[in-house]
Amino acid sequence: MRYLTPEIVKNKQIVMRVDFNVDFDNRGNIIDDFRIQRTLPTIKFLQDNQAKKIILISHLGRPQEENNFQKFTLKPIQLYLEKLLDKKVYFIEDFLKEKQEINEIPSGNIILLENIRFYPGEEKNDINFAKQLSELGDLYINEAFSVSHHQAASLNAITKFLPAYAGFLLKEEIDSLDKIKNISGGKLVIILGGAKIKDKLPLIDAFINKAQYVLVGGALANTIIKSWNFEVGKSWIDQDMLEQAK
Ligand code: 3PG
Repeated sequence: MRYLTPEIVKNKQIVMRVDFNVDFDNRGNIIDDFRIQRTLPTIKFLQDNQAKKIILISHLGRPQEENNFQKFTLKPIQLYLEKLLDKKVYFIEDFLKEKQEINEIPSGNIILLENIRFYPGEEKNDINFAKQLSELGDLYINEAFSVSHHQAASLNAITKFLPAYAGFLLKEEIDSLDKIKNISGGKLVIILGGAKIKDKLPLIDAFINKAQYVLVGGALANTIIKSWNFEVGKSWIDQDMLEQAK
């Protein structure tokens, strides 16, 4: 894993994968901006160390699954980011068609691409799509730990074309996981929750022989309880995962 230094980013056009996958309320307000806030120090580091342009790539929701692109536009995130940074953030609706426009944006600016999952090539980890994405910059930063388990073009295939570096947040997560890996002697208690049951069940398997306890809560717990044929009332469960959750 390679880490960022001031020398590495200086005068470089940066392609940075972030995770701005946030929830909105009915009025379109961001419910929790934690993920966006947490990327600000990395953006600031790049600015302070004279990175040329910062091109941010993110997904929002699962537009291909829901077949609804409008609902998942990153436009509101652009506006939110502008407020947070107190600086214009350029928004590119289709980078495949707007390469010239990106080139013409003056150095020192921040650019946000439209939801990367609008492109089928993203989740297919398509090599040609990744190549086109890579052509936007000189180096690649992964600052999206929460989505790094995906074999997707903006996370995986792109690293075949650009020198790839771990962002500060990614490093922090890896360091924390390393600490857990080294805890021995039955001192480990793992607490797991969340709605994405398919992603979480394998984690239980991964820790079950290592941790003294694995505690589960929320929708994950409900799905497991239901799979054991207990009633969970109106609590949300993942119907598709009942068999695996047993
Ligand atoms: C998350 O919110 O867990 C990440 O952004 C990943 O989203 P995904 O489960 O839709 O890939």
